[in-house]
Amino acid sequence: MSAELLDGAKLAGRMNMESADRIGRLLSAGRTVGLGTILIGDNPSSAKYVAMKHADCAELGINSFHEHLAESVSQREVEEVIDRMNTNPEIHGILVQLPLPEGMNQEEVLLRISPDKDVDGLHPLNLGKLVMGQPGPLPCTPAGIVELLLAHRVPVEGQHVVVIGRGLTVGRPLALLLALPRRGCNAAVSVVHRGVENFSEIVRSGDVVVSAAGSPSLVVPAMIKPGAAVVGAGTSFANGKLLSDIADGVENLAGWITPRIGGVGPMTRAMLVRNTVLAAEKVR
Ligand code: GUN
Repeated sequence: MSAELLDGAKLAGRMNMESADRIGRLLSAGRTVGLGTILIGDNPSSAKYVAMKHADCAELGINSFHEHLAESVSQREVEEVIDRMNTNPEIHGILVQLPLPEGMNQEEVLLRISPDKDVDGLHPLNLGKLVMGQPGPLPCTPAGIVELLLAHRVPVEGQHVVVIGRGLTVGRPLALLLALPRRGCNAAVSVVHRGVENFSEIVRSGDVVVSAAGSPSLVVPAMIKPGAAVVGAGTSFANGKLLSDIADGVENLAGWITPRIGGVGPMTRAMLVRNTVLAAEKVR
């Protein structure tokens, strides 16, 4: 393999140390940072992701509050749980793990979270701030990817970034963020999906390729410009195995690549911690 590894686990560790300092300062002032999470249903990967977020909280001195609701829960009950977290002064950040069960209105759920406690950056008001280029909590995975590329000095500004996938949590906000006139962004961004004509050629024109499609081995070596940076942000599961969007062999062509484990995932969680600490610091 010739590509440099985009080591998210290492960078997330450094970021968490900075967060731990800030959590310590708040503790000295008599304030404990609190994160509330809501998991609906029994999706094993969602349960695993939420458990990892709680493990990070425990390690860093953040109090975590968890509500695990049945798949059959009503929209109203979910909104009542959010309302209680919104008014609980011990909770500074709220995360409702997505995807929600079929039939639940995701927009209403996200709208219900107090924008000040929206550490996921997915409340429409905060997404609007992102569109307008105003400061606000950024969605965790997009923010983590930008930090990871910056830390490894991957050229992004003025370059062509191809984002594969247009989902709410990664592809769509990442494309907006990368196009903003800010450090580590300033890119020409294409958003593609498998329904796009000339999909492979467009991907091959990317200096940076981020795949957030959740489609195993979608990105094959023939789609990669030699020397490009390749970020695997999409995962899927089959037979209990975690599968990447990036096929084997891409690491031999890429200039930089995320490892299968320890790439984007730890960065997402570090950004969640950072957003939660920021939300707590803002409370007077
Ligand atoms: N499910 C997958 N990614 C995310 C995320 O960034 N936030 C939430 N709330 N759920 C997710």
